[in-house]
Order: sequence, then structure tokens, then C-alpha cells
Amino acid sequence: MSETHVVTGAFSYTGRYITERLLAKGIAVKTLTGHPDRPNPFAGRVVALPFDFDKPEALAKSLEGASVVYNTYWVRFTHGATSFDQAVENTKTLVRAAEAAGVSRLVHVSIANADPNSPLPYYSGKGKLEQFIRESKLSHAIVCPTVIYSLHDVLINNIAWIARRFPAFGVPGKGDYGIQPIFIDDMADLMVDAGSRTENMHVDAVGPEIFTFDELVRIIARSIKRNVAILHMPPGLALLASQVIGLFVSDVVLTKEEVDGLMAGLLVSKRPPTGKTKLTEWLAQNADKVGSTYASELGRHFRG
Ligand SMILES: NC(=O)c1ccc[n+]([C@@H]2O[C@H](COP(=O)([O-])OP(=O)(O)OC[C@H]3O[C@@H](n4cnc5c(N)ncnc54)[C@H](OP(=O)(O)O)[C@@H]3O)[C@@H](O)[C@H]2O)c1
Repeated sequence: MSETHVVTGAFSYTGRYITERLLAKGIAVKTLTGHPDRPNPFAGRVVALPFDFDKPEALAKSLEGASVVYNTYWVRFTHGATSFDQAVENTKTLVRAAEAAGVSRLVHVSIANADPNSPLPYYSGKGKLEQFIRESKLSHAIVCPTVIYSLHDVLINNIAWIARRFPAFGVPGKGDYGIQPIFIDDMADLMVDAGSRTENMHVDAVGPEIFTFDELVRIIARSIKRNVAILHMPPGLALLASQVIGLFVSDVVLTKEEVDGLMAGLLVSKRPPTGKTKLTEWLAQNADKVGSTYASELGRHFRG
């Protein structure tokens, strides 16, 4: 009988790529999701169960028989009933349930430069969870990306989307802070590799190229052959511009916290790169597609 692994969010973004790889290896996959009734992109090969964070025993039962759990669950911002504090508590419930169910290995997605003492709740919540997982009984891997890009991501793809439609791009501050994105396939490969190991590990998931934010916007615009003026502006004004665009696309394009994290240099790792795909080469290969469609965070989680 084949092994069973659980992926949280197999119908969403990172979890989908992890699931593709596991199925290709002949591993049976179950997913925990907030949308178990969504159309199953894996044609029924993945069993979908609800998160059940409020029913820890049911959650543990869903995890029974699984040897590895890949956890991608998190919230990008406070919206409606979702909050960072709640996401921390839900993730702790998941970790305890994995212990109770006898899961052998947890591969948890955090973020590069997570810090329990960060003033930014995204980073402090992730930092607290890293501590919690290190103190758990589970064999674990903590995988920490900066920004995960593809044709469906909410930063690089959406910068291209804006550059295709507007003659100017508002950059918060001087645009001299760094960004080190990782390609989704490299991220998923790291996750699956981490699931096959037994040692406790903490790895940053970052690509081989580091750009300043200005360079990133210029490279994206050049690759899609758009002449876009970069306008440096106070961070609050850039955020306001993103909110105006958000009105048209019915989404939260950018949050204050994301601007603060970006400008503080948190989207660059202090460790060697772990992804091999160069964004510059990927952009050249996908110039006709990147930014053609807007990737909506609210669409992904709150509609449909
Ligand atoms: N994407 C990036 O560039 C990036 C960068 C750094 C770190 N990370 C980390 O990587 C992990 C995966 O990110 P991702 O972008 O691939 O996430 P995602 O696929 O959009 O979502 C991952 C999981 O979290 C659930 N989720 C997301 N937002 C939610 C909300 N507001 N309320 C309830 N559930 C919610 C999803 O639920 P459903 O199953 O119902 O869809 C899914 O199960 C996260 O831990 C994130 O912090 C991502």
C-alpha cells in the first residue's frame, strides 16, 4: 500500500505544486482546506477534508495514517473573521493534532526573517510558530520563502499586470531595498525533498538572484516591453495608489505591513540561495504570459 501524505491547501497556490509532485511519486494525498467543496483539480485523486480547527479530535482523525504533513496554511492579512492571532492558534492546533495522530514528519512553511519579536504581526506570528514547532515532538522541516513567483503569484505577476496597463509605477521610498524571489517549482521541490528527510532542519527558500525593488520593476517592465516610469513616493502614497487599483480589481493589492517588511529588507535571505531558477530567465521565457491575468488574493480565499 502506498504512503499517505497530507497537504494543507492542495487546491490553492503552493500546496497545489507540492501535491502534483507527491502524486507523481505515487504517494496518496489528502488535503485539508477551507474549501473542501471546490472543484478538485486533481480529478478526484486527492481527498479533501475541512480544516476543523475548532474540532481538534476530528482534525487528528483526518491526519491519521499520514506519515508526512506539509503545512502551507496561513493568512496574508486580517480580513473579516481571519486574523494573525487566530492563524497562530489554528496552526498550533494542527501541530498538536499531527502529534496526536502519530504523524512522522511535519514540513512547515514559514517566512524568511520570521522573528517572534518583530513589530510586524505576520513575521512575529511566523516566528512564534517556528519556536512552537521546534519544541514539538515532531521531526520537522521549517521552509522559509521570501516571495514565491509564478504566473499566478500576487506580487511579481501583479507588478507585470500593472505595468501592462499603466504608464507609471509607484515605488515606496527610494526603491533601494532588496528582494530575492523563489520560483514556485523550486519551492515545491524543496518542500517535497524536506518531506523525504528525517533530520530537523530550517532552510530559507530563496532564488539565485537579488534585485533592488527598482531593478525588479524595471526588469519586469523591460521583459514585457513596456516603457514604465518609476515614481518614488512616500510609502503611504504608494499604498494609497495600490488601494485605488484594489477598488477596480476587488482585492487587497498590498498591505502596509508588506510595504514595511519590503522596505526593511526582510525579503532577502542572509543564507545561500536554495532555488536554481533565475527570475530574469523565467521572465524572458514567459514575457507573453506574465501579468496577462491579475492574481487575486480575495478571489482565491473569499470568493467561489
Ligand atoms: N506566496 C508567497 O509569495 C509567500 C511568501 C512567503 C511566505 N509564504 C508562505 O507560504 C505559505 C503558502 O502561501 P501561499 O501563498 O501558497 O498560500 P495559499 O495557497 O494561498 O494558502 C495556503 C493555505 O492557507 C489557507 N488560507 C489562506 N488565506 C486564508 C484565509 N484568509 N483564511 C483562511 N484560510 C486561508 C488556504 O485555504 P484554502 O485551502 O481554503 O484555499 C490554504 O489552505 C504560507 O504559509 C505563507 O505564509 C508565501
